Amino acid sequence: MLLLMKVLVIGNGGREHAIIWKLAQDRCTPELFCAPGNAGTATLATNLPIAAEDIPALVTWAKINRPDLTVVGPEAPLCAGLTDALEAEGLRVFGPCRAAAALEGSKAFSKEVMDAAGVPTARFHTYTDSAKAIAGLEEFGLPVVIKADGLAAGKGVIIAKTRKEAESALHDILDKRRFGQAGTEVVVESFLEGEEASVFALCDGEHVVLLPAAQDHKRIFDNDEGPNTGGMGAYTPAPVATHEVMLFTKEKIVLPVLQELKRRGIVYRGVLFCGLMIRGKDVQVLEFNCRFGDPETEVVLPSIASDLVPIFSACVDGTLHDELVQLRTESATTIVMAAPGYPGSYPKGLEISGVTEAEAAGCHVFHAGTALRDGRVVTAGGRVLTVTAFGKDLREAVTKAYEGVNQIHFEGAHYRHDIAAKAFKYL
Ligand code: AMP
Ligand code: GLY
Repeated sequence: MLLLMKVLVIGNGGREHAIIWKLAQDRCTPELFCAPGNAGTATLATNLPIAAEDIPALVTWAKINRPDLTVVGPEAPLCAGLTDALEAEGLRVFGPCRAAAALEGSKAFSKEVMDAAGVPTARFHTYTDSAKAIAGLEEFGLPVVIKADGLAAGKGVIIAKTRKEAESALHDILDKRRFGQAGTEVVVESFLEGEEASVFALCDGEHVVLLPAAQDHKRIFDNDEGPNTGGMGAYTPAPVATHEVMLFTKEKIVLPVLQELKRRGIVYRGVLFCGLMIRGKDVQVLEFNCRFGDPETEVVLPSIASDLVPIFSACVDGTLHDELVQLRTESATTIVMAAPGYPGSYPKGLEISGVTEAEAAGCHVFHAGTALRDGRVVTAGGRVLTVTAFGKDLREAVTKAYEGVNQIHFEGAHYRHDIAAKAFKYL
């Protein structure tokens, strides 16, 4: 009897649906589980009613069911040591151990590692005392960037345009504990200008393979206006990340960081998300994340032509090499459809229609915040769906993705109309 490979994916967003969707196409046809998953993952995997942060329950399930591979989507369980806990049971995990995940979990640690590895990043100081931090502002011009050290669900970065704003951010974080324990330390750094790109580096501790660069759209409204969100759309490849920029990212950023971690006895296995600020040939690291980005994953993973299990396995086993990762030649775009009110408060339970029609039009619809209610798919989050399309070039991918979006309806749905527009100036 042929035993199917079992793969467990942790998380419940568009990123995890895209991971599951890609795994489902592998030639080894793995048996898929998702904890906790959403209405999209439910069509391809068995959803488990276990929260992504519930490490004891995940370990208990894994001890009994022995997945051959576990893929961890979000940062919280990685930073809390899910990989370490599963590896202690002899299980294989794609995603860094707790000490390596601290590249995202502690911005102070991340900056210190970059400094030691000689990686270009904004000039910075770290502080635990607000009076010292305020005195230190003298060394930076305006705007100045203030970051809570720990995980703050994407809200821990303040770009202060005035001295007064900077002082009140420092008081809020260090004295009023606005981000709780995540704000016992702050990073103060200089403001960088340029264009941002996200580069995912697959790592096996030693070897690195970069996936094509993507660009996210963080603000809620067109022309990068309004408040920040988790990301409203993405496209790949991002022309701002030229061949030269990618080479620099591998040789002068990722490899030195892996070496520096290794020197400290830390092995980085999984994906290292490099948030870059690019200006011409100048590349600076804004941040590292210890996981795939969302919604970038919804364009980058579908762009991989090769099977995913062998790639993730090579990262775990230390056998990663370029030939494992063959890419499609088309461009991809994804548009996030959000609930009314997002990124503020929003209703849930709105009925969604038109997904089948969007897929018939050639799009891949990934569920981000959805649930099943009486057999129907309803909204269950702020970012509800992400609609991905390929095209022979970026313009065609964008047109097709919006054709898909136009098929889908739920009350008050909103989305940006200018995804990938920034790239057109390069084309
Ligand atoms: P981070 O979580 O560190 O990536 O910061 C979130 C966002 O804040 C980034 O995507 C940038 O848009 C912005 N940002 C962070 N650091 C800087 C910086 N030093 N200069 C300019 N913008 C920054
Ligand atoms: N799209 C940015 C992130 O996942 O952090």
